[in-house]
Amino acid sequence: MKFYIPKNLALLNAGVITAAYACLFLLSVGIIFDNAFIHYYTFLVLLLSSAMIFLITYSIFLITLDKFIYSKIRLIYKSIHSVKVGKKDQPLYQSASNIIDHVQREVENWELEKQGEIEQLRRMEQYRRDFIGNVSHELKTPLFNIQGYVSTLLDGGLEDQAVNREYLKRTEKSIERLVKILEGLDEIAQLETGQMKLKITRFDLVNLSREVAEMLEMKAHRHDIHLVVNDPGKPVMVEGDKDKIRQVLTNIIDNSIRYGNRESGKTKITFFDMDENILTEITDNGIGIDTAELARVFDRFYRTDRGRIATKKGKGLGLAIVKHIVEAHQQTINVRSTIGVGTTFGFTLKKV
Ligand SMILES: Nc1ncnc2c1ncn2[C@@H]1O[C@H](COP(=O)(O)OP(=O)(O)O)[C@@H](O)[C@H]1O
Ligand SMILES: [Mg+2]
Repeated sequence: MKFYIPKNLALLNAGVITAAYACLFLLSVGIIFDNAFIHYYTFLVLLLSSAMIFLITYSIFLITLDKFIYSKIRLIYKSIHSVKVGKKDQPLYQSASNIIDHVQREVENWELEKQGEIEQLRRMEQYRRDFIGNVSHELKTPLFNIQGYVSTLLDGGLEDQAVNREYLKRTEKSIERLVKILEGLDEIAQLETGQMKLKITRFDLVNLSREVAEMLEMKAHRHDIHLVVNDPGKPVMVEGDKDKIRQVLTNIIDNSIRYGNRESGKTKITFFDMDENILTEITDNGIGIDTAELARVFDRFYRTDRGRIATKKGKGLGLAIVKHIVEAHQQTINVRSTIGVGTTFGFTLKKV
């Protein structure tokens, strides 16, 4: 028998009190009548009064206990509810056992929710730590270079015609790199806080892709990459911020050149009609991305191992910005890739 259950506790208490009453009754009967004989009627009175006392005390105990527990637990229940967001209307419970069951369930759910939140905070904290580590690492390289060149110039290099101009040029390059990193960070910060307003217009995606391809033609040529815009024979009109989409195309095509095939590289831009949207795919036959790294290429400062080997130049910010821009348009971007075969980036835009 579980004594901590209100019903059993009330039963026990009522039993003890009734027993005490019966003893007192018998004792007083013995004293009054001066002998141990108990009359039949006296016995009946004892039985009835005991039953009544039992019932009354049982009820009083049960109701009081119930009320007491209910009032205490209701407070806990209320505070759990007020902590929870979005759950304003709590049902009213009339008895303690109902509310105890419910509170137990609520606390269990609450615990699960909190565990999830803690996990999320931990991930964010890790991300923040990685991010700060990455930023300082990225800034360090050009800064140390500048420091080195300037020191060399001050230590006599300035008078040396053979190096002074060259070192100043390299200093300028490092400063340019610093400025680029800061601009990238600034842009991401603006995109993340939603400060960047999109200037939505209607434009021909084929035309824009050709413009971007022309702009990157020289670079592609240097890397032996052949850029092809698949011409659908008619304009592909979309809605979006033209300058930002130009940035998206530039970044993705630039990557396809940078991480492209060194011998017979080819980058193809294709448009697909998807009812409401236009899907633009940029496919290369370059170095590819490992499956395990695919999801991370959109992270700030993330560069794949193979990417790092291919070129030291990248900062790993381009795709993070690209993703932000596409998502700011309420559209999606994805990537698929096979090592040694090639990579395809695809993003959608609203068709008009
Ligand atoms: N077309 C591609 N083929 C292979 N790897 C790619 C390609 N595009 C991007 N990557 C990988 O994703 C990383 C992140 O790209 P991005 O954010 O543009 O940075 P960055 O170009 O400055 O290195 C690159 O460093 C590279 O490792
Ligand atoms: Mg890039």
